[in-house]
Amino acid sequence: MNEAAPLAWGRHYLAVEPTAFRIDYVINPFMDPMVQPDAARALRQWHTMVDTLRGLGARVDVIEQRDDAPDMVYAMNLGLGVVRPDGTRHAVMSHMRYAQRRMETATAQPWLVRHGWTTSYVGRDSIGAHFEAGDAFAFGDSLVVGYGPRTEELALKHLALDLGVRVRGLRITHPSMYHLDLAFCPLDERRALVCPEALDGPSGEALLALVPEPLVLTAEEAIGTLCANSVVVGSTIVMPACPDRVRTQLEAWGFDIVLVDVSEFHKAGGSIRCLTNPVVAGSTTSPPGTAGRSRPRVRTTG
Ligand code: ARG
Repeated sequence: MNEAAPLAWGRHYLAVEPTAFRIDYVINPFMDPMVQPDAARALRQWHTMVDTLRGLGARVDVIEQRDDAPDMVYAMNLGLGVVRPDGTRHAVMSHMRYAQRRMETATAQPWLVRHGWTTSYVGRDSIGAHFEAGDAFAFGDSLVVGYGPRTEELALKHLALDLGVRVRGLRITHPSMYHLDLAFCPLDERRALVCPEALDGPSGEALLALVPEPLVLTAEEAIGTLCANSVVVGSTIVMPACPDRVRTQLEAWGFDIVLVDVSEFHKAGGSIRCLTNPVVAGSTTSPPGTAGRSRPRVRTTG
């Protein structure tokens, strides 16, 4: 019997076709310019991933990659999509920590506007705080945001005010889990993959307290397989890999697991969730952007 509750992710993603994917610089512990991805294999893996998502009923819109932006394939980091109460779409664009990636949003932002979105940066006009959308998830009554390696703590306040949502900040301390999406994967309203070792002690406890039924990953599982960097379509979890122990629990919960090999993309430190950006930052109860329902508030742990 399938017990998995309806999906938190939506069925509409953005992705960037890897036509210029390579490793030119080092901004995370996975990257090594001496270990380059195989371009043809990366393209095949990416197409298999997109075909798999489409086969599960998802829509995937494709943005072209800039030649000068090798990490732009990690579409999740372009911005955070939200839907306003009137149904219009808005994207909070990322303001990348590293200059090597900042040009990506200069291409993504006009693309989004051409496709009917409004856009902003955290803090509106005073672009200052770094925010990378791979750190943000709608979960429960909040936008859960990791900060530290990429997103700055100040950005949490901006997000709460700009979107009118409650933001829960979690301090990331593990250098290899530099975005929250390498350590956290909400599955439905109650369940999530969680690697508390990515966070400092109080933040790890805060995240575990937020998730009624966490499936706790060891750092070894999370970093070695990037299994938390997965996406959910309906009751199917599309994953790069899944340790047996994790699979047993996910299947007992009623999820189906589809594995897609995106190993070429692990060389630059990202997997399936990084390569896709849900157009609606999926929320199980109140999507961020339903401004006014709850008072903006930031609770930072760590
Ligand atoms: N090389 C990219 C970076 O370090 C990888 C991004 C991974 N994306 C993610 N959502 N975790 O920025």
